[in-house]
Amino acid sequence: MRHFLSLCDCSADEIDALLRRAAELKAIQRRGELHQPLTGRVLGMIFEKASTRTRVSFESGMAQLGGHAIFLAPEHAQLGRGEPIEDTARVLSRMVDAVMIRTFAHAGLERFAAYASVPVINGLSDYNHPCQLLADLQTFIEHRGPISGRRVAWIGDGNNMCTSWIEAAGLLDFELQIATPPGYRPPEAVLEQGRGRVTLFDTPREAAAGADLVTTDVWASMGQEEEQAQREAAFTGFCVDATVMAAAAPDALFMHCLPAHRGEEVSAEVFEGPQSVVWDEAENRLHAQKALLEWLLVGAADG
Ligand code: CP
Ligand code: NVA
Repeated sequence: MRHFLSLCDCSADEIDALLRRAAELKAIQRRGELHQPLTGRVLGMIFEKASTRTRVSFESGMAQLGGHAIFLAPEHAQLGRGEPIEDTARVLSRMVDAVMIRTFAHAGLERFAAYASVPVINGLSDYNHPCQLLADLQTFIEHRGPISGRRVAWIGDGNNMCTSWIEAAGLLDFELQIATPPGYRPPEAVLEQGRGRVTLFDTPREAAAGADLVTTDVWASMGQEEEQAQREAAFTGFCVDATVMAAAAPDALFMHCLPAHRGEEVSAEVFEGPQSVVWDEAENRLHAQKALLEWLLVGAADG
């Protein structure tokens, strides 16, 4: 039994196998073939924060694989009335085959996983967002081939998405060039996960230099809404616009996990422009997570 709380819960070979399987599942879906290895299986989904992509991709993914997903909002579950995480984990483990959680506190997710006897999937915490990285890696490979040895630029907040990019760089051996305003850098302990593959810069153009992929995320994440004005001031000059893309490789891709704020972290021109692959990236949440569910529940990705 395996959990997926971080990319680092997998080896590089396992991530490769998952991404290959994600591409196969996408092709199966495109051909309109039924593929239902999860008939009778149930995924419990706990969302403490809003979601469009994560909820719909997991729910559709389970249905397409022949299973079912249950949406639990804490305010409508006993978890929201103080039932301990440890108790919820043990009860759900008796009723469902896997649990996906989107939560504020990563420590709560780890506690849930420690008490669960079914696989637990991180659907985003304040620390990282590994499911998004599976989709992002699938999208890069689809458009440009293997990512190892390539150069990725992260522009903006040293947030949960940035953490997952750092974990990916360390695991899959590509260069990650990060530009954040002072005070918004990823913590040292996170940078260590990059195993020497990560370099910090002060300006977006420096970080984008020669990059094969430029990626960013919102300046204020969920739970930081009251910091919006302060962050808008701090992140002035950190918009991924045409001048930033011009510093990257001529065929550089642009990605954003979404939702995006045009005119803040990315210009409308770049977001809607020919280098942007954000809709493929969003779609690949579905295929990458189907590969993950199949692997966790029936072990298919490693053959
Ligand atoms: N990118 C992402 O996780 O989107 P949602 O917040 O809509 O799930
Ligand atoms: N950093 C963003 C990602 C949303 C998918 C947040 O945590 O709100």
